Parts: sequence; C-alpha cells; structure tokens
Amino acid sequence: MELKFDFNNMMQSQVGVHGIDPAFIDRDAPLIRKAYQKVMDNRGKGWQEWCDLPYASDEYLDEMISYCGEVGKKAESFVVFGIGGSALGPLAVASSLLHLHHNELPRDKRNAPKLYVEDNVDPERMNALLDVIDLKTAYFNVITKSGETSETLTQFLIIYDKLTKLLGKEEAVKRIIVTTTVGKGTLYNIAAKEGFKVYDVQKGVGGRFSVLCPVGLVTFAVMGFDIKAMLKGAAEMAEQSACADIYRNPALMSAYLKWISMKQGKNVSVLMPYADSLKYMADFYCQIWAESLGKEVDDEGNVINAGQTPAKALGVTDQHSQVQLYTEGPFDKVVTFIAVDEYRSVATIPEGGVDACDFLKGHTMNELINAERKATEFALKKAGRSNFTIYMPAVNEKTVGELIMYFMYDTAFAGALLHIDTYNQPGVEEGKKATFAMLGRAGYEAKLKEVNAVKKESKYII
Ligand code: PA5
Repeated sequence: MELKFDFNNMMQSQVGVHGIDPAFIDRDAPLIRKAYQKVMDNRGKGWQEWCDLPYASDEYLDEMISYCGEVGKKAESFVVFGIGGSALGPLAVASSLLHLHHNELPRDKRNAPKLYVEDNVDPERMNALLDVIDLKTAYFNVITKSGETSETLTQFLIIYDKLTKLLGKEEAVKRIIVTTTVGKGTLYNIAAKEGFKVYDVQKGVGGRFSVLCPVGLVTFAVMGFDIKAMLKGAAEMAEQSACADIYRNPALMSAYLKWISMKQGKNVSVLMPYADSLKYMADFYCQIWAESLGKEVDDEGNVINAGQTPAKALGVTDQHSQVQLYTEGPFDKVVTFIAVDEYRSVATIPEGGVDACDFLKGHTMNELINAERKATEFALKKAGRSNFTIYMPAVNEKTVGELIMYFMYDTAFAGALLHIDTYNQPGVEEGKKATFAMLGRAGYEAKLKEVNAVKKESKYII
C-alpha cells in the first residue's frame, strides 16, 4: 500500500478536549471487532460483492481493454450518461488521471477522446453537449444498474434517436455501450433487442460501490488508463482493510474515529483534497458517505436517523472560502485532507522580474500548495479542530485504486458501527417512484394519487 494515513490530529494529545482519548479505542474494542467482523463475514456476499471487484480475471479485463481501446481510438468524444453512483465514480477517477484541461488539448497532445460525464437532465446541458460534440465521431456509454432511472433513460432516448437519424440504425447501434444489469430492466431489454454492446453490472454491486466494475472500468479503458494497475491498488487496500488490528487498518481506524466523533456532535465530515485532479473525489466521497450512512432506522428497525453530513472542499481554493468556518465555527466537523507528495508537473516561481514578493521567488507552486496545506492543518490543530491527512505519493492508477477502495471500506465499517443497512437508499427510491408517477408511467397510478394529495398552502408562497 502506498497511501499513508496520519490520524494524530484526531487525538486529544494534539487537539485537546475536542479530540479523542486513545483509551476510547480500547474501551470500544468489542464494538469495533464486531463491526469489523460483520464486514469481513460479508465480503463477496450480498451487497458486498464490491469487495471482490479488484480480483477480476485477466481474461475479463483483456476483452474490455481490447473492445474499449478500439472505441477510444475511433471516438473524438466519449460521453457517459448516468447519475449518482453511475456517474460520480467514473467522473472522480477520470478527472484524477486526465490532464486538467484534457478536453481543450489539441488531438495530437491527447491520446484519448474528449470525455463528458453528463449526470443531469438539465435541458440546457443536453443541448450544450450537442453544441460541442460532433455526433459523427462521438461514442456513448449509457450506465444504469437498474436500467430504469428516468434521467439516464431520457438521455439515452434523445441520443439514440439523433444518432439513428444521422447515421442510420446499424451505425447508431455501434456508437452506444450499455452498462447495466444483464437480464433485468428496461435498458437491458432495449439493448438486447437493438443489439448494443452490453457490460454487466454485477448483481451484488450497488451504484456508489460500483466504480471498479464496468460502471467505471469501461470508461477508464476507453480513456487508456491502466485498469489492471488500478485494481492492483484496490486489492492492496482491500488486503490492508482485512487486517484485524485497527492500528494497521486505516479504513477501520477512520471509520471508528468519525463514528466516535459523531457521538461527540461532529455531524459534518469534510473532504479537502489539495489537488485539482482530486476535486471530484470529494463529490464521490460525499455520495458514498451520505447515501450509505444517512438512514432512518437501524438493523433492528429502531428509528435512529443516522448519518454524518459530508462536505466538499478544495485546497487551497476553499481556504479563502470555508476554512474560516472550520477554524472558528462550531466544533461539529472532522476535516480529512488529501495531500499529494509529487504533483505531475512543477511550476517554478521565477527569481527575477518585479522587485517585490521576495519570499515567493525561487520557490515552486508545489512547495507553496504543500506549505498552505500544512499551514491549514496547523491552524485547525491550534484551534482544537479534529482533522486527519491521507498522503498520496502521486496521483496515478494504482494510488487512485487504493483511495477508492479505502473510501468503500471506510463507509462499510462506519455503516457496521452504526448498525444500519449501508447498501439501501429508500429515500432516493421514493423520489424515483414519485417521478415515474408524475410522468404517467403505468403501474404508478396509486403513487400519483399520493403525490397529488400533498397540497401546498398558498399563504406561505411569497
Ligand atoms: O448509489 C446508488 O445506488 C444510486 O446513487 C444510484 O447509483 C443512482 O440512483 C442511479 O441508479 P442506476 O444506476 O440504477 O441508474
């Protein structure tokens, strides 16, 4: 494992009374052991099939690399349609590995298509996409595990119609990859009938835990990433997460520290990477942490309204936006920094030039961004604010694989400590059903009546 985790600033010895007494870890050892065991016992079973994703066979991956690699060569633009877990993982990982202005690079300076991850049904965004891509050279990946999500089906219907009219059906079919559950759902049925290339989303892999299955891998293979190195990194983190000793298991340690922090009233968990390439990792984290842990009831059906609100920040940008709150506002947060030792490029501040700013001259931006991270960590620690740092030696396929797997185990252990169902999302499903009803889908007539029965009082509308 290449990532390093520094939890010192979570402890009372560093941040004072708002920190955690190491004696708590001994006191809670039986609870930690039980939560750990629950996750271990379910590895590869039920909704924990994500635990097995790093161990995909070479044969399986080679087919994907070959097929998607060809698409990558032919496509000028590659568009992902999906939402939630079917978009945020692909977006977070791809953004972390691509040039920061990938789509603006001239073709000879990028050896992969332009990438667009379209995770909304804002009509302006759909039309804006159509303004910037050339349908004659574009390929699409329609991702929906259920095959039923209105947003993604809408995007698919619009694009398939346009492709068919422009290129004819035979060619249009070749432009779309469908990533869905084989044998189930509306999109799978369409794909089977029309003849799209289909990649299967394994049964026991839920949306927000799916980035290391075809939901993410197809796009990564199209973009030419080394998916085997990514899975190797994920496997190493999975092995580390199987370690029973909490002092050697970063995912178990962070899950416990955030769980005990929740009990102290720290109901906000901020992820603040100090790298633009990792900006969307914070979006990924927000989803997995929020949708997995935000639950009304525990395993026994008791109402507990569990969860810790995730927040995203970017270093150093949000030092000038949110850090004031983190340092002096309520003691209700845990801040996780992500530090990068070696950025992919160096930017040197010139020695000469204007006769001012001498303290900056001769340094690099690399030194500056790391100094600012350490300075923010120092300021938080001085103000008694709980924080910890994940160190990435560099951002590459292997370390990103480790990071993704860490987030999944971190969430799984936290869910087990909270005694909740980490893998369901009844709150989201309710909204999905209400949308079907409002759009007149057959079978949702009773839901429509329920929705229409909710009347708004006009006196509160200004
Ligand atoms: O994490 C989840 O399960 C959700 O965010 C889903 O990914 C999201 O609702 C999209 O679902 P689907 O992939 O079925 O279209």
